[in-house]
Amino acid sequence: MTIQVITVPDLGGTDAVDVIEVCVAPGDIVEVEQSLVVLETDKASMEIPSTHAGTIVSVKVNEGDSISEGSALVELEIEAAEQAAPVADIPQPVEDAPIAAAPVVSESAAAVSAEQTVSVPDVGTDEDVDVIEVCVAVGDTVSEGDSLIVLETDKASIEIPAPSGGKVLSLSIKEGDKVASGSAIAVLLVESSAPAPENSAPVVQAETPAATHQPKAAAPAALAAKAASSDESTAEPDDGAYAGPAVRKLARQMGVDLSKVKGGGPRGRLTKDDIRAYVTKAVDVATSGKVTGGSGIPPIPALDFSKFGDVELVKMTKIQKITANNMSRNWLNVPHVTQFDDADITELEAFRKGMKAEAEKRGVKLTPLPFLLKACAAALRYEPAFNVSMHSDGEHIVKKDYVNIGIAVATSAGLMVPVIRDVDKKGLWELAEESNAMAKKARDGKLMPMDMQGGCFSISSLGAMGGTGFTPIVNAPEVAILGVSKADIKPKWDGQEFQPRNMLPLCLSYDHRAINGADAGNFMTFLVSAIGDIRRLLL
Ligand code: COA
Repeated sequence: MTIQVITVPDLGGTDAVDVIEVCVAPGDIVEVEQSLVVLETDKASMEIPSTHAGTIVSVKVNEGDSISEGSALVELEIEAAEQAAPVADIPQPVEDAPIAAAPVVSESAAAVSAEQTVSVPDVGTDEDVDVIEVCVAVGDTVSEGDSLIVLETDKASIEIPAPSGGKVLSLSIKEGDKVASGSAIAVLLVESSAPAPENSAPVVQAETPAATHQPKAAAPAALAAKAASSDESTAEPDDGAYAGPAVRKLARQMGVDLSKVKGGGPRGRLTKDDIRAYVTKAVDVATSGKVTGGSGIPPIPALDFSKFGDVELVKMTKIQKITANNMSRNWLNVPHVTQFDDADITELEAFRKGMKAEAEKRGVKLTPLPFLLKACAAALRYEPAFNVSMHSDGEHIVKKDYVNIGIAVATSAGLMVPVIRDVDKKGLWELAEESNAMAKKARDGKLMPMDMQGGCFSISSLGAMGGTGFTPIVNAPEVAILGVSKADIKPKWDGQEFQPRNMLPLCLSYDHRAINGADAGNFMTFLVSAIGDIRRLLL
């Protein structure tokens, strides 16, 4: 570890600037290019980005300070390897020599110990995600695949495994932090006879910062110069709001109209705290039980249930809260129609049961689900009105030429819908293996966000549990979902007499904006006949 002092870069000739926002505090973990402070001249404001990833040790400036080029802004503790590739002009020398990071050749034959920095992999979202659990401590020995941390996105919790076995030398994050793809998690001391893993950082090149600096330091100066050359008082969009890019970004992310927020910074400048306070107030109003507008839906009144008997207050998981929001959103936005029918699966079940021994040999569980996946994929191709999404512009329908189907999986953390891709191109064994694997991954909390993206249609099977029918809620932006209830033997008239047939109840909910009743009738009729005679899937 080394300490890096980050200073005010070239100000393009401006003598003194005001610190109008300090974006970090001691202990914060920052990434390269993350804003450290916002400075303001009389012509422009500029965010000073971090030149390295690391942990803030101390902040040298306060809001309201007047500083100049070369003034120290923060002290940053960085990985030694980081020092090799600075992206900006850093005049101050680093204090510690990065010797500790060099590989150590142990006395035993060719065994090599090297430090490996483990970072958050691509989690399929640009948003920051919450660290909900840190599973290791400094000094722990981990094996390859052991969980290091657990992240939670709005779709799932994700365990990040150790890429190699080794000893945990340091941890860069703690529970409650927010991280993104690429954020450092930990440094492991990895011992192997093979070459050091790819993202290990065993060697530090003694390259001089001056050889590689430039663009980042030049940016604020360029901004200042640009603003100075125009006659405007700020280089930001002329929307009447007095706010820097970081504040604007936060406002965009939170859907806040800046013109409605009062600036609490110097000269009325909007700060991130102003945005957060505005959102908090809006949420308070929304949840206070007061109906604010004519179209507002009255909330269900709060009630003290303990008046009626013993109660326990159980905290909802994040997945449960997200599911609740999504269900309400979809229920309120999508005009639902649900159509019911029964498919005769007598032959399908005979075939499936005949295949059980082979399935066991292959190590897969062959339930009706892969047959339903295959039949739904064929129905989506047959009736493409089902393979669309409503465009958010309200003017278009998006037609899809791929067939990805989500399967609803009940887990202890809540409902998850992993997506099986290109279902129309896969065989039954492959679909059985993939649905088994996805359901397991969901129950183990190992689904990645991309596992749950890109669905065209969903299947919610309650067949193993029972029931004769239900009305599933469309998983928007998809436009239809198939609910499957428990198959049962029912009498079926064959023209002369009743025959005992194994009937599978199907419930097809669809978005009536995108799909009309005739399309739904075609889809269901096709589906029922394909399930009734799976040879049709070969046609
Ligand atoms: N009728 C009768 N039996 C059925 C059936 C049906 N429609 N569907 C499945 N079964 C049987 C299976 O064949 C299996 O029995 P078997 O071992 O004798 O063959 C048994 O029920 C258990 O099946 P299951 O392990 O649940 O596998 P599956 O492939 O049917 O379902 C999931 C997998 C992931 C979809 C399921 O486990 C699940 O989580 N369902 C809940 C979905 C949910 O919560 N939806 C609500 C959304 S609001």
